[in-house]
Amino acid sequence: MDKFDPALPTVFVTRAIPPEALAAIQGKANILMGPCDRPSTREELIEGFRQADAVVSMLNDPIDAALLEAAGERVRLVANYAVGFNNIDLAAAERLGIWATNTPEATTDSTADLAMALMLAFGRGLFPAEQELRRGDFNGWSPTTHLGLLLRGARLGIVGMGRIGQAVARRARGFGMRVAYHSRRELDPALAQELGAERLGLDELLAQSDVVSIHCPLTPQTRHLIDSAAIARMKSTAILVNTARGPIVDEEALAQALIDGRIGGAALDVYEREPLVHPLLLKAPRTLLVPHLGTSTLQTRVDMGDKAFANVLAVLDGKAPPFPVNLPPRPRS
Ligand code: GLV
Ligand code: GLV
Repeated sequence: MDKFDPALPTVFVTRAIPPEALAAIQGKANILMGPCDRPSTREELIEGFRQADAVVSMLNDPIDAALLEAAGERVRLVANYAVGFNNIDLAAAERLGIWATNTPEATTDSTADLAMALMLAFGRGLFPAEQELRRGDFNGWSPTTHLGLLLRGARLGIVGMGRIGQAVARRARGFGMRVAYHSRRELDPALAQELGAERLGLDELLAQSDVVSIHCPLTPQTRHLIDSAAIARMKSTAILVNTARGPIVDEEALAQALIDGRIGGAALDVYEREPLVHPLLLKAPRTLLVPHLGTSTLQTRVDMGDKAFANVLAVLDGKAPPFPVNLPPRPRS
């Protein structure tokens, strides 16, 4: 931390973020920075919340009622450094007059890029093929092996058609995929036409899709949305892609379906109990498993910092934040 200036507010950032992502707050607050190589422990979170006027939290910090109640009277917002905010007890924050905010838009393109990367890499079997080559088993071009998925003409089913779902639809359209979506809200007809996206019920979307890609938030309604019954509706050749939140998919049911050959494959960036990955999933065939990389580009992490600190600075200035996810009836001032 730079020299502590008692005239400035204090912002607790629960884990070190790239220095470039701090530009928006530099000189405007004392920064209390969490560790670099791991999340803050519970004790460190409690200690930080006691000292701060605002907290920038990570998506894997459990911001529950007990933590918020133990916070100092000064804490006026929890600015999640993420688009997802299922880690925050919004009702408790609201009751205590604490704003909660997220970083929408910042994360859209990098997450959509990763969903396409998973589709392409899994669909073409890049990782097993590369391992084969490195083992010395490349015997020259073959007309009959490694026959993968052609995106052109394949049916993509997008579950959750918010910003990220739409960004995936745009990319998929460029690859010539036939796009369908399932979403509570119907897209504006002009936008649906631009994206070439047809709205389907979930069961129909699951039954028709060659690739199902998850882009909804994690809520009580979407927890285990993709359970064994949903998986049973999918084509036995279909690929499930998840870059949203792990608990939307019943990991054990998915692993079992992979083992039993009832689904074509799974390409996952997120897990039910991160950083744990279900042992059955680690053993299951036809999987591509990467460690929650959706937003990991420097530019994205800087954009996320700009948005998180825009929320912080607005609230510390007595204003409503630009990206709220709750609405305390009587915000602390
Ligand atoms: C990443 O998972 C995010 O929610 O921003
Ligand atoms: C995700 O879909 C978002 O709204 O950013």
